Amino acid sequence: MTRTLITGGLVVTASDELHADVLVEGGRVVALATHDSHGWTAGHRIDARGKYVIPGGVDAHTHMEMPFGGTFASDTFETGTRAAAWGGTTTIVDFAIQPKGGSLGEGLDAWHEKADGRCAVDYGFHMIMSDVNPSSLREMDTLVSEGVTSFKLFTAYPGVFLSDDGQILRAMQQAAGNGGLVMTHAENGLAIDVLVEQALARGERDPRHHGEVRKALLEAEATHRVIKLSQVAGASLYVVHVSAQEALAELARARDEGLPVFGETCPQYLFLSTGNLAEPDFEGAKYVCSTPLRPEEHQAALWRGLRTNDLQVVSTDHCPFCFKGQKEMGRGDFSKIPNGMPGVENRMDLLHQAVVEGRISRRRWIEIACATPARMFGLYPKKGTIAPGSDADIVIYDPGAEQVISAETHHMNVDYSAYEGKRVTGRVETVLSRGVPVIADGEYVGHAGHGTYLPRGISQYV
Ligand code: URP
Ligand code: ZN
Ligand code: ZN
Repeated sequence: MTRTLITGGLVVTASDELHADVLVEGGRVVALATHDSHGWTAGHRIDARGKYVIPGGVDAHTHMEMPFGGTFASDTFETGTRAAAWGGTTTIVDFAIQPKGGSLGEGLDAWHEKADGRCAVDYGFHMIMSDVNPSSLREMDTLVSEGVTSFKLFTAYPGVFLSDDGQILRAMQQAAGNGGLVMTHAENGLAIDVLVEQALARGERDPRHHGEVRKALLEAEATHRVIKLSQVAGASLYVVHVSAQEALAELARARDEGLPVFGETCPQYLFLSTGNLAEPDFEGAKYVCSTPLRPEEHQAALWRGLRTNDLQVVSTDHCPFCFKGQKEMGRGDFSKIPNGMPGVENRMDLLHQAVVEGRISRRRWIEIACATPARMFGLYPKKGTIAPGSDADIVIYDPGAEQVISAETHHMNVDYSAYEGKRVTGRVETVLSRGVPVIADGEYVGHAGHGTYLPRGISQYV
């Protein structure tokens, strides 16, 4: 059995910073010991002096090959998980979609078909419920017992994914009984559609209007509503891609009342703003996603929320569409721009940049990017930490390396970078997935099919 010894690094987890060597055997971490305090031998040694030794990132919100607005997200499971590995993420949780009029099982089978045998790193699935009915509600129990333990429901996208309040309440009641975790996309989609229609009638057709009609107040209203519904159902709640400070305030208030509600934000809301949506020559389309980017002042509130634990997770909502041929579908009508942005490769670096800038601590970096998403979605301590018994998903991270983020050098299958030209300090050097090198000294050495499907346990937060 291959033994790997990682020597000389600073091991950073959500709870500790240890100058320690890490021994890996059979794909798992078997021991940690202070440098030079042991006589371990290993066939494979990695010198991590001057580097951080961190758990592989857990990105709990991706959409590889997602169908949206008449096209598909441009990363396949193969290209998207390879890019994830390049960025130090060794686990993704993607979203299988229940077809309208179909079962959850059909949706899950279709997503296995896309992903199985193709991923470079490990992956699991949440289930998007687009048709809540007595049969799909019963099916939730089966899915939970089989390892799909979280369900996304939408108050947005009427006619596509939107569930009404009664359907959301029923799904929450079901989850309260079976241990599932309900995730919500919280925006008032019906009201937004009215504002879209009115904006287009006034001739407001540019990408920036996407941000204007998807109002912060309508995110706050829907967030308030799903919190109250979860309270009535006695269920825990996880609100995805929180971007508005008003929505965050709803979460904070509920948490102050002791409710088990949790929130995720994404790098795009922490680093980008409506200024990007307003870029000329239709360039703003690159930044069209929902919830939308907000004016810059919301960023400070989100960073505060991450520090105070009113927000617990940073995921990417990676859902890339090429500018050419895909985003361009919405030239002259912002409502036809496919919603979503690339980022699976950038999350660990961008959050490390926040460490460099003093916004969060090193341990909080690992907590929001690795440990808490793993705990939230039933993967801990297999994933999200470096401890005896954990999967050896380990990143050797060079905290002093400088890089410039660019579509020229990224590995995501998309023709632009949302962070083009941004300088960051820190870079992934080596990535192990279950002890197997996937990135070695800045080279990709992994392969499609290495990544295995992860049936998940119950969230530690329900
Ligand atoms: O714009 C986004 N977020 N696209 C992906 C689908 C979703 O709502 O998460
Ligand atoms: Zn969403
Ligand atoms: Zn999403």
